[in-house]
Amino acid sequence: MRVGLAADNGEWHRSRLFAALRASGIEPVLFSLADVKIVTGGGEPLRIPGFDGELPDGVLLRTISGGTFEATTMRLGVLHALVAAGVVVWNDPRAIERCVDKSMTSLLIARAGIPTPDTFVVSTREAAADIVRREATTERPLVLKPLFGSQGKGLRLVATPDDLPDLEEVARVYYLQRFVPRRMQGWRDYRVFVCEGRVIAAMAREGEGWITNVHQGGRPTPWAMPTEAASLAVRATQAVDVSYSGVDLIEDGDGRFQVLEVNSMPSWSGLQSISEVDIGEAVVRGFLKAVYAAHRPTVVAAS
Ligand SMILES: Nc1ncnc2c1ncn2[C@@H]1O[C@H](COP(=O)(O)OP(=O)(O)O)[C@@H](O)[C@H]1O
Ligand SMILES: [Mg+2]
Repeated sequence: MRVGLAADNGEWHRSRLFAALRASGIEPVLFSLADVKIVTGGGEPLRIPGFDGELPDGVLLRTISGGTFEATTMRLGVLHALVAAGVVVWNDPRAIERCVDKSMTSLLIARAGIPTPDTFVVSTREAAADIVRREATTERPLVLKPLFGSQGKGLRLVATPDDLPDLEEVARVYYLQRFVPRRMQGWRDYRVFVCEGRVIAAMAREGEGWITNVHQGGRPTPWAMPTEAASLAVRATQAVDVSYSGVDLIEDGDGRFQVLEVNSMPSWSGLQSISEVDIGEAVVRGFLKAVYAAHRPTVVAAS
């Protein structure tokens, strides 16, 4: 079984995944998506370092982090080409696309009937201003998020059209969402890690402000997850059809859970710090099961 591990954006996750793969009897080839080449004119055009002109059976991916639109598009293309050639890629690039684009996640989650804050996505400042005029007040602002954002970066509250940044500042897409007032004192929301339709670990995050990401100082806190929350998180992963992910939930003023987003390239060091289950090991187990299932030798009946 030839397995590639593309996890070049952080030592902690890379070494956990590497160790879990080796513990399962696999010697993974570490490579960076930045080093993958496409060379036409002879043999397999997709050249992945460490595979000698052949393709792996599976690729486990921590992140694609291209840096520019061009690099990201090429990397996604490479992953699509791997899938088309029968390679198991976790997460599948189609799922990554659905999750990285917050508007598509919102659309699919809403379409599946899963509770999520009302969301408005438009491509002109005038259309955004109309929505803000109609939907926002100082007491109930809208949240503006970067369409491809993560780690709680770049979010802001918008109460009047004047609060809207220019079109170029939002990369020409305004993603606006109703602000969910919390039920309790203080700022807390929830992260649920789901792998293959099962909850692996969950935590509450407690922040000093309304953005509670661990990268923004949110504190991982043990949480006795209600079954309603677990089932919402699992349904959200099914709506975007992702193999492993971190689902963000928020509890609204009525004590009901809503899905904020599904992360197809989640980090889990914060969650691991309060979890007994080894999250990387669970991801590797699910991934290898998928690789073995896809490459099971077919039995040809003797004639
Ligand atoms: N609609 C909302 N109402 C209230 N708080 C929100 C809302 N959307 C996001 N937040 C807060 O901001 C954080 C980051 O938002 P999220 O949608 O998860 O984007 P990111 O990809 O940056 O993590 C959430 O974990 C939550 O604390
Ligand atoms: Mg989030």
